[in-house]
Amino acid sequence: MGSSRVADTGLAADGQARIEWADAQMPVLRSIRVRFASERPLAGVRVAACLHVTAETANLMRALADGGADVALCAANPLSTRDEVAAALTHHHGIEVHAVRGEDGAAYAANVTALVDGRPQVTLDDGADLLSVLHDSRPSQLSELLGGTEETTTGLLRLRALEAEGRLACPVLAVNEARTERLFNDHYGTGQSTLDGILRATNLLLAGRTFVVLGYGWTGKGVALRARGAGAQVIVCEVDPMRALEARMEGFEVMPAREAASRGDVFVTVTGSRDVLTGVHFERMKDGAVLANAGHFDIEIDLEALRAAATGGVREVLPFVEQYDLGDERRLNLLASGRVVNLAAGEGHPAAVMDMSFANQALAVEHLVRHGAELAAAVHPVPETIDREVARLKLASLGVEIDSLTEAQRDYLRSWS
Ligand SMILES: NC(=O)c1ccc[n+]([C@@H]2O[C@H](COP(=O)([O-])OP(=O)(O)OC[C@H]3O[C@@H](n4cnc5c(N)ncnc54)[C@H](O)[C@@H]3O)[C@@H](O)[C@H]2O)c1
Repeated sequence: MGSSRVADTGLAADGQARIEWADAQMPVLRSIRVRFASERPLAGVRVAACLHVTAETANLMRALADGGADVALCAANPLSTRDEVAAALTHHHGIEVHAVRGEDGAAYAANVTALVDGRPQVTLDDGADLLSVLHDSRPSQLSELLGGTEETTTGLLRLRALEAEGRLACPVLAVNEARTERLFNDHYGTGQSTLDGILRATNLLLAGRTFVVLGYGWTGKGVALRARGAGAQVIVCEVDPMRALEARMEGFEVMPAREAASRGDVFVTVTGSRDVLTGVHFERMKDGAVLANAGHFDIEIDLEALRAAATGGVREVLPFVEQYDLGDERRLNLLASGRVVNLAAGEGHPAAVMDMSFANQALAVEHLVRHGAELAAAVHPVPETIDREVARLKLASLGVEIDSLTEAQRDYLRSWS
């Protein structure tokens, strides 16, 4: 194990309490950890993870370490790092961690490099940074890779682009697209935690407000659903006709962003794209409008255009709330500097949500260790067997039993006639 770089090891006891609290709500991952500890399926495998450094991630790291892996962790976003968790992982669990909350881009890049220096055989990414650095600057290490997993849509976009260029050198399991992951992480998890981040930063009453969701994908659907549940009038903006139609049939108002701009009190971008809200929208917005982003990168709200529009200046009015004075009696409130609002201003997903994601991650790592060498260098779906196992373990943890097909039903479904 290399040496760790964390803010303050004195925070370890607080971090350990948080890790244990999260563990109590992660029964699926815990059952996998118990099995891993007895079977040791990852014995001696070098695993590098670039994920949000939270208590839930800590429990994934524990599961991998109990499975026998040599584990190192760095932060996928310096703003979401919990320094006490980083301290506890190094101090109580002997896991190498490189993460300090709020550190700058150069420090962030140095952390990724430190993990790559450990010559990982399996990578876990949330935004494809480890695999990008390995492909860009460590081609000699690519042959050592059994494979990687990717936790987010944006990371998959990058990796599929690499695959399309014929340059992807290892199998990647698209954990982000496992059905159990999408349902819990993108839909229920981000839906709830995005609202939580907005409310913690602003303490707005959502009932009666107009809430605009830009992007009605897996994540946007969850945000729209929860905003409606809080009593807001929800408008959806989309570019995909199928998704726009779905939003309309679900009872949301659907319109172009330009039109929604003058109607909204709160705007949330969640597209995975760039410049979704820009100058043409800011100039139409109402005084006091709140702008937040739940997409992976801070490019969905055009920050340069927002700064240019703020002829009256910019000031921080509350933690995580910057007010842009447009110089004409209108002020726009940007949350968390346009970064992922649920992670920056909130605590991210509840542990029960991450339980499903990280159960998929743990089983995906086990699959790569067992079968990575046989898989083509491509982005692969998480095997259906893993998805079903995660759902089965979750139902068991909830005490829910279900029916199974009878032999006659199985024969019927298999038969063409
Ligand atoms: N904050 C979080 O915790 C969290 C969790 C999961 C995913 N994400 C991020 O959220 C983003 C969306 O992820 P997803 O899984 O919902 O993706 P998705 O592909 O299912 O949905 C994105 C939707 O945005 C639409 N879209 C694209 N450009 C648009 C534009 N200019 N205007 C309006 N709509 C547009 C697309 O048509 C699509 O329907 C990604 O960046 C992903 O990494 C964040």
